[in-house]
Amino acid sequence: MKRLRRLRANKTLRNLVRETRVDKKELIYPIFVIEGENIKNPVPSMPGIFQYSVDRLAELLEEIHNSGISGLLIFGIPKHKDELATSAYDDNGITQRAIKFIKEKYPEMLVIADVCLCEYTSHGHCGVVKDDLILNDETLPLLSKMSVSLAKAGADMIAPSDMMDGRVAAIRKSLDENGFVNTPIMAYSAKFASGYYGPFRDAAESAPCFGDRRTYQMDSANGREALREIESDIEEGADIVMVKPALAYLDVVKEASQYNIPLAAYNVSGEYSMVKAAAQNGWIDEKRIVLENLTAIKRAGADIIITYHALEAAKWLEEE
Ligand code: PBG
Ligand code: ZN
Repeated sequence: MKRLRRLRANKTLRNLVRETRVDKKELIYPIFVIEGENIKNPVPSMPGIFQYSVDRLAELLEEIHNSGISGLLIFGIPKHKDELATSAYDDNGITQRAIKFIKEKYPEMLVIADVCLCEYTSHGHCGVVKDDLILNDETLPLLSKMSVSLAKAGADMIAPSDMMDGRVAAIRKSLDENGFVNTPIMAYSAKFASGYYGPFRDAAESAPCFGDRRTYQMDSANGREALREIESDIEEGADIVMVKPALAYLDVVKEASQYNIPLAAYNVSGEYSMVKAAAQNGWIDEKRIVLENLTAIKRAGADIIITYHALEAAKWLEEE
């Protein structure tokens, strides 16, 4: 008889034949930095996640450093928002100041800077708005300026999440012209218009004040189009491509892993909050579910996982 159970008989055997392992070095932790002083604001829809002012960041950085994960993805929340997102490319803006602070304290910590205008615009859209339309080509120079400003502040990697067409090429060109030829671009290539971003918009204070993001983020029904997005970002010079969200899009992650380029998956805010809520109710075993989810993302083909569970997961992986 075929006995597949033979290799499941005990932990040693199971470990021996385990096909997929998550390494904490593959994890990236998103952080939210807000203008102001002495702030550590809990995000109600994301238990365990806080907005920090720069003067309170040290405790979080220490935790990230001790966890052994590779680094962080930074989102800044400015006081001043306007039509053209000027705080986004202000060399003294909140994100730039936070990056400088982090790199001074922890030069070896990987700091990835999210590039998008929605946290910085008064209307909350990811691009320049005119007559309720989100303009593509007019947005590209602003994203480029923002990228150069963040690289100047010390960002190790630039991660455009806006979904404008042609932004990877535009950003690459500006980075190169400004001497940042060695700053990699991690492109949010297949970023779907998703209900799973709800809690993030509380955390980053970036909900659009009219309409939605469906004219630039992808339709959640489209797997093949995701591959075209990925192909064009690779052509435009992306160093790493990303699928986002992760869990409801593992088929896309799997297909994207065929390209010979590092692949990231973003385990987004809503995916995190659902696990937290169920765990708080005692309905699921949080550690078990988180490790199962991260393993599934890895098994589907992701090389890098961006997750709000990163710090806890790093501890749990150690215990395993
Ligand atoms: C900004 C951005 C968003 C996320 C990452 N970058 C929100 C959005 O597009 O609405 C979502 C991250 C998450 O939900 O955890 N464009
Ligand atoms: Zn945005």
